[in-house]
Amino acid sequence: MDSAIKNNLIASYQVDGGFIVHDRVMLEKLYALLGIDPKTSLDWRIFDLEGITHFFQHGVVTLVRKLAITKDDYVLSLGEGSGAPSRLIVKMTGCRVAGVEINPDQIVKARELSDLHGIQDKVTYYQQDVEEMSLDKRDFTKAYCNETCGHWQDKGEAFRRIYLHLIPGAMIGFNTWLKGNKGSLNDAYDAVFEFRPLYKKEIWFQDNLSTYQRLLEQTGFRVLEMYDCTDRVDIKIRARVKASVQWQRYEKVMGSQAKDNALRYYNAMLKTHYDFLRYGVIIAEKTFP
Ligand SMILES: C[S@@+](CC[C@H](N)C(=O)[O-])C[C@H]1O[C@@H](n2cnc3c(N)ncnc32)[C@H](O)[C@@H]1O
Repeated sequence: MDSAIKNNLIASYQVDGGFIVHDRVMLEKLYALLGIDPKTSLDWRIFDLEGITHFFQHGVVTLVRKLAITKDDYVLSLGEGSGAPSRLIVKMTGCRVAGVEINPDQIVKARELSDLHGIQDKVTYYQQDVEEMSLDKRDFTKAYCNETCGHWQDKGEAFRRIYLHLIPGAMIGFNTWLKGNKGSLNDAYDAVFEFRPLYKKEIWFQDNLSTYQRLLEQTGFRVLEMYDCTDRVDIKIRARVKASVQWQRYEKVMGSQAKDNALRYYNAMLKTHYDFLRYGVIIAEKTFP
């Protein structure tokens, strides 16, 4: 990944950026108010607050089921972020996870939150670029990538690196941001003014499903399932924006500015849907040599 892109990417995922990232102190306040214990609970609001993803908990649980992850799996997470999907997967299944993340600040948050969830023994983090990834472990039985590979500049190389770290027959699942009908989110900076402050520029490398299929198959993966789910994600985000009781509770702890920022984020992203952003799910397996 070019260094200018890497810098913009890292700057996009900060607590005070346009994208909402809650730190441990904020989360502890919210959980106390909501009466949730993150060590024992699979309450969807935990994921909502820690992940701020577009597929929400439901989308990650669907991926876990499609990949049939169990306690015996050793899972590679590509683009770990602050780790909400991995914490959910560990608590759902008891598996081990290794998270690869380019942004050191995200890894700090992931570590803090794995401690808050009491799962620190099940997770390991590597600060690396997936496009250059080289880990000391190469026996992963499953891999997943939640809403991350739309940032990968050279997906062919990233897939090749991932391939080298998986055992034959290992399955990989993607919840991914695809190119829209008019272009990528790079084009949305001009067309959707509300989108401009949310992320730094030129960090988007979205593709369509057929490009994913071609690149995965060229690498040695077999695509088992692949579909566009833009309608479903769009409806879920619209419902989230309208969940007024949730927002009232959120405002009580975080204040009205945080609530307005969160709503501004979702409303702006909704404006990019279809034209500059679509969503897809891909399930593939590493073929036997
Ligand atoms: C939208 S966040 C998603 C994080 C996490 N998967 C989740 O669902 O909560 C994307 C993350 O991927 C990371 N990322 C993007 N490209 C990467 C790369 N080439 N190598 C490692 N991490 C990357 C970013 O730094 C960011 O933390």
